[in-house]
Amino acid sequence: MPNIVVIGTQWGDEGKGRIVDLIAERVDVVARYQGGSNAGHTIVTNDKTLVLHHIPSGILREGKLSVIGNGVVVDPKVLLEEIEKIKSHGYRVDEENLKLSDSAHIVMPYHKEIDLAREERMGSSKIGTTGRGIGPVYEDKAARRGIRFSDLINPEGFSVRLRSILEERNLYITRVLGRSALEFEKIYEEYIIYGNKLRMFITDTSKVLNDAISQGKSVLFEGAQGALLDVDFGTYPYVTSSSAGAGGACIGTGVSPTKIDLVMGVAKAYTTRVGEGPFPSEISGDLGIRLRELGGEYGSTTGRPRRCGWFDSVALRYSSMINAVSGLAITKLDVLSSLDKIKICVGYRYKGELLTEFPSNTEILKHCEPVYEELDGWREELRDLKNLSSLPPSARAYLERIEETTGVPIWILSLGPSREKVIFLRDIFS
Ligand code: GDP
Ligand code: IMO
Ligand code: MG
Repeated sequence: MPNIVVIGTQWGDEGKGRIVDLIAERVDVVARYQGGSNAGHTIVTNDKTLVLHHIPSGILREGKLSVIGNGVVVDPKVLLEEIEKIKSHGYRVDEENLKLSDSAHIVMPYHKEIDLAREERMGSSKIGTTGRGIGPVYEDKAARRGIRFSDLINPEGFSVRLRSILEERNLYITRVLGRSALEFEKIYEEYIIYGNKLRMFITDTSKVLNDAISQGKSVLFEGAQGALLDVDFGTYPYVTSSSAGAGGACIGTGVSPTKIDLVMGVAKAYTTRVGEGPFPSEISGDLGIRLRELGGEYGSTTGRPRRCGWFDSVALRYSSMINAVSGLAITKLDVLSSLDKIKICVGYRYKGELLTEFPSNTEILKHCEPVYEELDGWREELRDLKNLSSLPPSARAYLERIEETTGVPIWILSLGPSREKVIFLRDIFS
């Protein structure tokens, strides 16, 4: 059975949760490998909507193991709330079906404080983060002053480590950011409780995953954010602080690249972005607002309105190259019904020159004008269609142009948020 990485190919919110929930039925294990509570992955089932932040989107599938890998940065309060929420929907979450890496880093109150204070200070040059402490916690990980779950479950060691780290972080918070110092006792007591509640899930998840693979089980690696928000290959500095691409799956779980068979890229049939940063195919004015309303484009985590734009095949080709995307899952095609004309961005105009490759330099990207191809839209509702041939000819032509301009085949076509609104164009397990 193949091991598959599912990534977002745009700026996040492509519908990864919805696609992972779908494919999870056919695998044994689903592992999240990066990001944290900045992610919001939505699953709609039996008319219930569940938004997951840390827990893999396979948790609703019976008999599947969910793993939160070492590369995920975990906010324990949010994780515990998430567990309760899933249980309240009638699903099982226990030490048998959820494992949490002992090497995963923990989001502490000072990370959130620093994230918010920095954004405020930066004013108009802010990143537009989710305010969940993600940048500061990854920063501490690299600086070797992070706190991991293996620290948290040893109260004495945790106390010593927290005290020295907090002393240093408080200097930064007070002297550089001009905010109030955080209290050791308050944090310590709160986090010890979280550690006790989460203890049963904590283990060496790289061993769990490698053992599963050795036994012939298949693992789905679930990415958060999207390739264009990747800390190395995204639109830096308007990115998140982790490796959101396929490579992150190995770093964030302890599974070798030689064990990965396929990379599935999830892409919306148009493009959205939350937060700041260049977005060449962004639609301004009434049409952008209309698309936001048609697609319900408000952040799953923060509720912020998402910026909306046309499908960008230049960007898609780039993210597919970086990640060797084997096939695409296109979501939200149903949202485009009722538009008279639909555009695809096929190139950028930069200082009078035509660019057909996505520039790695964000300063160049900022000044790129989109070059569009215009296609006919369609009026028909798509949600209940069951095969490709029943799609209106102009919708099929649109999908063909996506395949031609990105050079990647479409494997899955999602026509609604719930499980049954889907057309499989290729069996990825055959
Ligand atoms: P993720 O972060 O990539 O998992 O995506 P989000 O959950 O943040 O945002 C995707 C939104 O689109 C969610 O509200 C989904 O329920 C919804 N969605 C996913 N696929 C489809 C689809 O094919 N059609 C429609 N109309 N909605 C979809
Ligand atoms: P999912 O997994 C969309 C964006 C933020 C901001 C930038 C940095 O649901 O697709 P951060 O808080 O990570 O430091 O913010 O990244 N961002 C996302 N945008 N979907 C996400 O996750 C995102 N996670 C972070 O809006 O622009
Ligand atoms: Mg999301």
